[in-house]
Amino acid sequence: TENREKFRPEYHHTPAYGWMNDPNGMFYKDGTWHLYYQYNPYGSQWENMTWAHSTSPDLIHWQHQGEAIQPDALGTVFSGSCVVDKENTAGFGKDAVVAFYTSAGAAQTQSIAYSTDNGRTFKKYVDNPVITSDVPDFRDPNVFWHEETQQWILILAAGQQMNIYSSKNLKDWKYESSFGEGYGNHGGVWECPDLLKMGGKWVLVCNINPGGPFGGSATQYFVGSFDGHKFTCESKPEVTKWMDYGKDHYATVSFSNAPDGRIVVLPWMSNWQYANQVPTQQYRSANGLPRELGLFSYGGEDYVSVKPAPEVYAAFDKKPSGRLQAAAYLEVTGFRNNASIVLSNDKGEKVVMAYDGKNGTFSMDRNASGQADFNNDFKATTVAPTCGKVKTLQIFIDRCSIEAFDGEGRMAMTNLVFPSRPYDRITAKGCKVTVHALKK
Ligand code: FRU
Repeated sequence: TENREKFRPEYHHTPAYGWMNDPNGMFYKDGTWHLYYQYNPYGSQWENMTWAHSTSPDLIHWQHQGEAIQPDALGTVFSGSCVVDKENTAGFGKDAVVAFYTSAGAAQTQSIAYSTDNGRTFKKYVDNPVITSDVPDFRDPNVFWHEETQQWILILAAGQQMNIYSSKNLKDWKYESSFGEGYGNHGGVWECPDLLKMGGKWVLVCNINPGGPFGGSATQYFVGSFDGHKFTCESKPEVTKWMDYGKDHYATVSFSNAPDGRIVVLPWMSNWQYANQVPTQQYRSANGLPRELGLFSYGGEDYVSVKPAPEVYAAFDKKPSGRLQAAAYLEVTGFRNNASIVLSNDKGEKVVMAYDGKNGTFSMDRNASGQADFNNDFKATTVAPTCGKVKTLQIFIDRCSIEAFDGEGRMAMTNLVFPSRPYDRITAKGCKVTVHALKK
């Protein structure tokens, strides 16, 4: 009912109960999308880090599978990744799912666990840890197969740079290089890297906390090349590129082994500034919508394009529905140079979105969006460059979140909101809004 868990999203992944942060170890295999996540089984604040597991046939409908990797003598289980070892390079078995995570104990070290039942249960590798260092913030290993040099590559966060390692067998790792000194934003610790091949280029994903454009956590990235040993950024060192211009998009990494060469990523939809205090009950935090990444050029630079995965649209009725509901998708078209979309309820709570075609910006103001007094950093207006004219906008509302995407993928903005009642009114100026309801 409305009173019980009024903020729990209807089409975003959430844990059944307890705390969740980063998505971990995501992979696709035999028609199933696997998502692990940073989980506290014993409470709704950050502690006791454990990997829990959910699965989905379509990236929208998720089933909880329980805990997958638990703390041991080396420490609690921090973020990491999985690969499907098709050629049995590690000797754990053909098609074994091999997980890499950070053991967070007296030191942060990298460990392996493997699964021979499609990611349901894991055994820890006996010779853990497999990578150690003196760097205090040394974590979030992300592994992929590098076709060109026929070896595995592991990238991890080491303070304010990313370290790259190579291996033939997933167990013995050789340090290759580091990237980051002097490049991009250094307002915080670098975390949760990913290295993605897109077209002929490579994109290094670098989550950073704090240092985000509106305070706290955010996702920056670098476009360049990777030769199996070293990542080279193609932009000037001072150029900073953000994947999302909201306050609640963090720890974004990709699914391994995704079908048809797709690059599908999933964010954690919160911000370390207030994640432990958001006013949800029973559980804390959701994932953002699954997104597909690509590249586009604008003003002499290459940028990552961000679009909702096609599976997201399939979850909504094609036929427009008249009323705005707590879970909805808004298709916005017919933009004039100055346009605004206001969502509101009869409590006077509202979110104001505005497009300025002359200056090429889109903004979202959540200062009067509802509950905001749980943390001083929550109230905010976020602003994004639109990299050209906006023709269409897709806006996804799900009880406590609003995600706005430019139709061509040139801008994404993800923000939490906690209205005391769902917004049920739309006031649109200088554009046309069509509402689509979630399929029942
Ligand atoms: C990012 C992060 C990771 C770490 C994990 C711990 O949000 O700080 O760097 O592995 O969360 O839960």
